[in-house]
Amino acid sequence: MSSTLFRTKKVEQSILDTEEPEHALKKSLSALDLTVFGVGVIIGTGIFVLTGTVAKNNAGPSVALAFTAAGVVCALAALCYAEFASTVPVAGSAYTFSYASLGELPAWIIGWDLVLEFALGTAVVAVGWSGYIQSLMDNAGWEMPAALGSREGAGDFGFDILAAALVLVLTAILVLGMKLSARITSIVVAIKVTVVLVVIIAGAFFIDGDNYDPFIPKAQDVPPGESLQAPLIQLMFGWAPSNFGVMGIFTAASVVFFAFIGFDIVATAAEETKNPQRDMPRGILGSLFICTALYVAVSIVVTGMQHYSQLSVDAPLADAFKATGHPWYAGFISFGAAVGLTTVCMILLLGQTRVFFAMSRDGLLPRFFSRVHPRFKTPHRPTILLGVVIAILAGFTPLNELAALVNIGTLFAFVVVAIGVLILRRTRPDLHRSFRTPWVPFIPILSVCASLWLMLNLPAETWVRFGIWMAAGFLVYFLYGRSHSLLGRRKEVSVDDVVKPPGGEET
Ligand code: ALA
Repeated sequence: MSSTLFRTKKVEQSILDTEEPEHALKKSLSALDLTVFGVGVIIGTGIFVLTGTVAKNNAGPSVALAFTAAGVVCALAALCYAEFASTVPVAGSAYTFSYASLGELPAWIIGWDLVLEFALGTAVVAVGWSGYIQSLMDNAGWEMPAALGSREGAGDFGFDILAAALVLVLTAILVLGMKLSARITSIVVAIKVTVVLVVIIAGAFFIDGDNYDPFIPKAQDVPPGESLQAPLIQLMFGWAPSNFGVMGIFTAASVVFFAFIGFDIVATAAEETKNPQRDMPRGILGSLFICTALYVAVSIVVTGMQHYSQLSVDAPLADAFKATGHPWYAGFISFGAAVGLTTVCMILLLGQTRVFFAMSRDGLLPRFFSRVHPRFKTPHRPTILLGVVIAILAGFTPLNELAALVNIGTLFAFVVVAIGVLILRRTRPDLHRSFRTPWVPFIPILSVCASLWLMLNLPAETWVRFGIWMAAGFLVYFLYGRSHSLLGRRKEVSVDDVVKPPGGEET
C-alpha cells in the first residue's frame, strides 16, 4: 500500500504529458512577462488593506519589521521554488514538484491545499476590490443597496454582487486566452506600481516623527474568551495570549504574509513559458525582491503619516492621506487600488485553475477537466467551474479569518517544496537544473523552519479549519484519486517495462 501512496511521477513523464496535443497549453511567456505577472499578483490586498489592520491590532510601526520577516521567509522559499520550477517546467506548481519528488499522496495533499489557498485568496481579494469600488462610488455620491453591497449588509441577507461579478468577468477573460490576460495585466500592473510609488514619495512629505514612538508598542493581553484566536504557539507554550511587543511582530508577519502570496504562482505558469529553465528563476526572484522593497517603504511611510492606533482598517493608504488633509491623493489611491486588485484576483484564479488542471491531467480528479479548449487552448472547464464556485464564495462568505487560512495553506506548500528540493537532489542528481538553490541543505532546512514558525504564529482556530479541509482531502483521494490515478494505471500495464533510474525514483 505505501508503495502506491508514495509512487512518484517521473520528471520526464511530467514533461511528456504536457506535449499530448489535447492537454497542452500554449508557450508564450517571457521572463519579463513572468515578473510583471508576479508583481501583478503579489501587490494587492496585503499592502492596500492588511497593513492598517496589523499595524493597529498587532504591531504598530513595527509592521515594517513584520513585512521584512515575511519577506525573508518568502525569499528562502523562493530559492527552493526556483530550483523546482526550473527543473520541472510543467503546470501545477508545488503539486507537480511534489509528485516528482515526494510521491502521489503528498502531491495530492499539496494540490488540495493549493486549491484552497488560491480559491479563498481570489475570494478575499475580490471582496477587497468591491470595498474600494464602493468607496469610489461613495465619493461620486452613488450607493449600493445594502443587501447587494456586502454580506452583512441588510439584516439576514447580503450578497456582495460586485465581488461576484468581478470573479465571473475575470473567468471569461481567462477562458479566452493567456495572451490577452497577460496584456491586460501589464497595463494594470503599471497603474498599481505607480500608485504605490505615489504613496511612498508623496507620503514621505507628511511623516510626523512622533508617530514612530513607540516603534514596537508594549505587549498587551488578549481578552479572555478569545483564546482560540490567539497564535497557536502562545497556547502551546502556555503563554498569556498577547498583542504587540516582539511576539506581535511575528503575529503580524504571519498575517501580512498574505501580501507576498503570488510569487509561487509564477511557478505555476512554467509550462506556458518560452524558456522556463532560464526565465522562471528570474521571474520569481525578481518580482519578490521588488515587492519586498515597496512593502517596507509603504509601511514605514503610512505609520509615519498617522499614529498606528488611528489607521483605518478598510483603506489605510487612502485614509492616511485624507487624515493629513489630502483627499485628492486618497481618491487617486483608491482608484489605483481597485484597478490593481483586479489583476491579483485574475492571477490567483489562473493559478488555481492550473493546479486543478494538472491534478485532472494526472487522473487524480476527473480527466474531463483537463481537455483544453480547441480554439483558445485554455483549460476552460476547470476555469468555468471554479470561477462560479469562487464567485458564490466571494458573494456570501465573511472573509476576515479566511485570509489566515490562505496563509497556512501557502506556508504548508512552502514546507513541502523545500523538503522536495532535498529529496530530488538525492533521488535525481542527474536532472539538469538551470537554477540550483544555494547552500543545500542549509537553505531548504531554514526555509522549512521559517515557514513552520510563521504557521505557529497563526491563530489556533485557523489550524482547526485547516485540519478539517485536509481531512476532507484525504477522503476524496482514497475514494477517487487513488484508484483513478493515471500513473497508477500506467504502472499496472507497464510494470515489467520500467527501468529504474540510478536513484530508484520509481517506487
Ligand atoms: N499578495 C496578494 C495580495 O496581497 C494575494 O492581495
